[in-house]
Amino acid sequence: MSDTKKSPQGEWSSHFAFILAATGSAVGLGNIWKFPYITGENGGGAFVLVYLLCVALVGLPIMMAETLMGRRGRHNPVTTMEALTAEAKADEHWHYLGWMGIIAGMLILSYYSVIAGWATAYVFKAFSGSFFDADAHAIKQLFADFIASPIQLIFWHTAFMLATMSIVKRGISHGLEKSLRFLMPCLFVLLILLVGYAMTTPGYFQGLHFLFNADFSKLSGNSILTALGQAFFSLGIGMGAVMVYGAYLPKKISITETVVIVSIADTVVALLAGIIIFPIVFTNGLEPNSGPGLIFETLPIAFGSMIGGWLFGILFFVMLVVAALSSSVALIEPTVTWLIETRGFSREKACLWSGLVTWLVGFASIFSFNSWSEFKVFGLTLFELLDYATANLMLPIGGFAIAIFAGWVMVRDHSEQELDLPNPQSYQIWELLIKYLAPAAVFFVFLDVVGVL
Ligand code: PFF
Repeated sequence: MSDTKKSPQGEWSSHFAFILAATGSAVGLGNIWKFPYITGENGGGAFVLVYLLCVALVGLPIMMAETLMGRRGRHNPVTTMEALTAEAKADEHWHYLGWMGIIAGMLILSYYSVIAGWATAYVFKAFSGSFFDADAHAIKQLFADFIASPIQLIFWHTAFMLATMSIVKRGISHGLEKSLRFLMPCLFVLLILLVGYAMTTPGYFQGLHFLFNADFSKLSGNSILTALGQAFFSLGIGMGAVMVYGAYLPKKISITETVVIVSIADTVVALLAGIIIFPIVFTNGLEPNSGPGLIFETLPIAFGSMIGGWLFGILFFVMLVVAALSSSVALIEPTVTWLIETRGFSREKACLWSGLVTWLVGFASIFSFNSWSEFKVFGLTLFELLDYATANLMLPIGGFAIAIFAGWVMVRDHSEQELDLPNPQSYQIWELLIKYLAPAAVFFVFLDVVGVL
């Protein structure tokens, strides 16, 4: 592979464009919707601490590895893995890693779009004044009535999938770049304003205590796996999306710098979301462990009672939808590029087929919130099963494989060249993390979960 080679799908227009797109992929429902509710379900502070360790010691080095593999391979995950395997003269089975990424991306998007559909519906609920002066009970009821209606969920899921596919159709670096440039900073400012609101609530310190006081007796092996899976999910790694984004990365841009910026932004947004949501939970006597509905049952209470809440409510849900869109395009892009590059599809046709399949799979999650809520596999609803299988299993396994490949299989000179760190010591630290620490961490967490430890 020559150093000047570019991806057939084009390149990012600037360093800033790549940071925006990568932050867009990382920051999404995972930070604002999922992080708070799984923190609530897993007891708070200790879980947050484990999560932060997972991001820094496992997620970050793997994200660097995935980006550098993408830039070296310059294609969709399957073709990239084939090229890297050939270059390293390794076993050709490694290309299954690319496959797993493609499948994981579509499965995640199938339910991601359903939840993003909820956020889209809430833009309109905010606009119509549904939250005005409503108490915790009324807001809970509003949410319960909403998810009990398959028709409504199908409608919003469809709308969100159409929006995603129409952006992907234009090529991600076109449609997305302009809107992200403006909306990402807005999301950030709005979160800071909402933290200001949370500080005025009586439950503020109780919320902070819940989020930052580590009580390890509340942690189980499964909580640690959930924290690890969330680190992968939130950074958007382990499934080839970062590989594809890396493939569009011009040679001169520093991978390390970019990855560090993106992971800090991602972590800050998740923590801000927690700092906003838990004070509202405790102020209103709600349960932190109420599950996937948490933000939809808490934030509207704040919007219904605060000054300017009508406008803030609309803006907040609009930005949540935009943050979700910039992640959903990353989830489907590996499939789309694979169809274009290896099956000769046009971009339009690739979008149509991948979008259609993902949309249909989404129905399983939709019905698991209403008509099929009693149908369980291993004690999990279909939505929970999809979430567990992707975030807690496929992404960590994908990340583990990426670490092994980058650390042990790839030609050392190539990874060193791609990372281009300022000194050999920094490279050695990364090498230590990617060869030993990251794979060992994933491995031991799995052993713990299956009960071997
Ligand atoms: N990181 C996104 C979020 O936190 O919402 C979700 C995601 C995007 C996961 C892209 C995986 C991915 F490839």
